Amino acid sequence: MCGIVGYIGGKNAVDVVYNGLEKLEYRGYDSAGIAVIGEGKIERRRSVGKLVNLKENLNTNKIFGNLGIGHTRWATHGKPSEENAHPHTDCSGKIVVVHNGIIENYIPLKNQLQKEGHIFASETDTEVIAHLIEKYYNEKSSLLDAVQSALKEIRGAYALCAICADDKTQVVVARKDAPLVIGLGKEENFIASDVSALLAYTKDVIFLENGDTAQVRKDSIKIFDGQCNSVERKSQKVLWNALQAEKGGYKHFMLKEIYEQTQTIQDTFRGRISDEENKIILQSVGLTKEDLLKISRICIVACGTSYHAGLTAKFLFENFTKIPTEVNIASEFRYAEPVVDDKVLTVFISQSGETADTLAALRLAKEKKSKTVAICNVVGSSISREADYVLYTHCGPEIGVASTKAFTGQLTALYLLVMFMADKKGTVSKKQLAEFIAALRDIPTKIAETLNLADGIKGIAKLFQNTKQFIYLARNINYPIALEGALKLKEISYIYAEGYPAGEMKHGPIALIDETMPVMVIATDSKIYEKILSNIEEAKARGAKIIAIANKDNTEIVKNSDYQIFVPSTQEYLSPLINVIPLQFFAYYISVMKGCDVDQPRNLAKSVTVE
Ligand code: AGP
Repeated sequence: MCGIVGYIGGKNAVDVVYNGLEKLEYRGYDSAGIAVIGEGKIERRRSVGKLVNLKENLNTNKIFGNLGIGHTRWATHGKPSEENAHPHTDCSGKIVVVHNGIIENYIPLKNQLQKEGHIFASETDTEVIAHLIEKYYNEKSSLLDAVQSALKEIRGAYALCAICADDKTQVVVARKDAPLVIGLGKEENFIASDVSALLAYTKDVIFLENGDTAQVRKDSIKIFDGQCNSVERKSQKVLWNALQAEKGGYKHFMLKEIYEQTQTIQDTFRGRISDEENKIILQSVGLTKEDLLKISRICIVACGTSYHAGLTAKFLFENFTKIPTEVNIASEFRYAEPVVDDKVLTVFISQSGETADTLAALRLAKEKKSKTVAICNVVGSSISREADYVLYTHCGPEIGVASTKAFTGQLTALYLLVMFMADKKGTVSKKQLAEFIAALRDIPTKIAETLNLADGIKGIAKLFQNTKQFIYLARNINYPIALEGALKLKEISYIYAEGYPAGEMKHGPIALIDETMPVMVIATDSKIYEKILSNIEEAKARGAKIIAIANKDNTEIVKNSDYQIFVPSTQEYLSPLINVIPLQFFAYYISVMKGCDVDQPRNLAKSVTVE
């Protein structure tokens, strides 16, 4: 995710802001910038790439001011470039803004502002905020009033800081669905999106609440709630050290990323579901109804966890778009003789967007004239640049090598793509689409409930920490989730684990089952729930200890299994989003108990850019 730092006080803001941005580097970013109010005017420096580039820029083009704001950008709207780097200004260059989050309605707002004469200099959603503030800022309306008026027009998530060259005594800040914290100093105050940026200066902080705006001066802070009423927010003392703060207080990045999933899933569908009518809007996927009617087959290509997202999507594409779909491992696809032509839609899934095998497969599909869609997390990555269409997952940087939030982001993006295509093609009814949208909107709450199961899962993990092997079983759309659960366990706890479609057991793998082979089984509501119960019986009869992931009303499961993890129920086709969470926790806790390096498991790299 992007990072924000702001400062007002007696020091040179450039130094404080730069130091703060350095503390946010771990979050990942592609460009950075700082703006200060110098001699009555805004001075701004921005650079692409690492912070050292910004430092060089600042060394050659020095700026100075006691009030400043800065930002590290993880691109969401528009490629990583100097023009798209924050801070962004209004037309006059007097108002500058840094922003984290996504403005859902930025396109209509931008169109309207352009009609009113505003000139835009970037491709970002953030720039509309600067122009909206400009629109409302005048003799009668202070910077704070103007920010509050602008926010009334904005839909989406934001943490932001705004400053105006007319007044170097204040920074106006605001937050909704993205964190922002104010650090308290003596005759100086600090602002940051993440407490780790402030710890070198202060441990006393105020966490703003959703919908808050605040006017921060060097010697006072006024906070207003979402209705612009003045409110008090209590200050707190942060007891974390710098490393704990980077991980948001979690022991590992992986655990932090597991917990982020309530938010990241929303970030993936934010702005892509119309509020007015039940429609999926994917601006970046320009496939028309005619294009879709010409498609005879969908061919998904990916590696590892992304491949599992693809396997899940096969069920969805076939069910809802009625287009035959195959899923390929990229390293195989690229050396096979894939039957792909201009009637085949190829879909490439990659968190990093740089995986060498997936990139090579994409190039091969393009040579064969296939239309290509990429599902990527990293904006501006090679795969996202080379595909015809790209759908970003907007999950923010994933630092743990074991993919968690990127996986659920990929699934969410795939759900959107499937329903978008099915709606265009006319293979999904209005009613089905409305039910899907309602159920998807409920998923973050259900994920939050599932995250509350962590302690129980940890207790079960403790009993299995010395196990040498594991089998994961599921059927139908949850079969790829069994594969994903097994991959997580292999990757971070070095336990041999295999995922199987439960009905396939009797054709071989059942020979492995005895009391030394525990079985993790996904048995949530499904049209073939009873079949899965029989598969569990088969394993239990051979002495296996059974851990079942089930829904509360699946009472039979208590008799059939040794341990149960009861997750909230949802539509069967959305259940992979919920069912994968206990498996992520299970692998995580076993890894911690075994003393493994959770975030950087042996022999693995986050992004596999070689063959
Ligand atoms: C997942 O936990 C892995 N570390 C790995 O399988 C990963 O999903 C794979 O290398 C693909 O990466 P990508 O999504 O960046 O292309």
